[in-house]
Amino acid sequence: MTTSNKHPDAPWRNFYGRIKGKSLKASQEAYLDEDLAALSPGAVDWDVNPDRLPLDVAALFEGRPAWLEIGFGGGEHLVHQASTHGDVGIIGCEPYINGVAMLLGKIRRAGVTNLRVHPGDVRNLFDVLPDASIDRAFLLYPDPWPKKRHHRRRFVTPDHLQPLARVLRPGAIFRVATDIPDYVRQTLVEVPKAGFEWLAEQPSDWRQPWDDWYSTRYEQKALREGRVPHYLTFRRNG
Ligand SMILES: C[S@@+](CC[C@H](N)C(=O)[O-])C[C@H]1O[C@@H](n2cnc3c(N)ncnc32)[C@H](O)[C@@H]1O
Repeated sequence: MTTSNKHPDAPWRNFYGRIKGKSLKASQEAYLDEDLAALSPGAVDWDVNPDRLPLDVAALFEGRPAWLEIGFGGGEHLVHQASTHGDVGIIGCEPYINGVAMLLGKIRRAGVTNLRVHPGDVRNLFDVLPDASIDRAFLLYPDPWPKKRHHRRRFVTPDHLQPLARVLRPGAIFRVATDIPDYVRQTLVEVPKAGFEWLAEQPSDWRQPWDDWYSTRYEQKALREGRVPHYLTFRRNG
């Protein structure tokens, strides 16, 4: 399955996750119909931007610093960050359309205006993000792909980390949360190789969540099932 657009020049990209789940509620269909187009940076679509001209990130948020959340799930953390940090703009990326619909409902209820949504694969967004255009990125409970033969599907692989490193400005913070010990291992190997420094100095730095944390749906499930969250903070080398 691929989430790239159908334009003939668009690269074919494997995407192994879900794009659609159970039927959407009527209210969620309405959020998608009424709100999504205005919140999407349209220039990510191949049909709109076949020459892959870079996105004008400063214009998206009227010059405010731009952050990025990759795979926001139901969007609870994304909306919390946007409400807490009104002085930044945040782009959320999520191919699972039910999650996008959940986010749009939360945006309406919270009344936040500093969010934009790419309802698709973050790799398509990376293609059009200028170098050093993003000030902070979040990767929260990425798909674990537990089988060894599937580890190369994980986000913490060079195919994803190199473009992420390119779009983050030097000194930018990259936060990763995961409950899977082997994912911690791979993250601590691969992320520094892509040009980041792990900032932990003591165990509490990865055992305790960040001050502005909001526990996600996936974290709640992990806690119910007895798994231990790890909070890893990296800084893009400059
Ligand atoms: C395990 S879920 C976690 C969701 C949410 N962050 C949470 O903590 O509840 C991982 C999410 O990453 C999304 N995802 C996977 N690959 C992605 C990609 N290439 N670009 C953007 N999102 C992606 C999936 O659709 C899924 O919603």
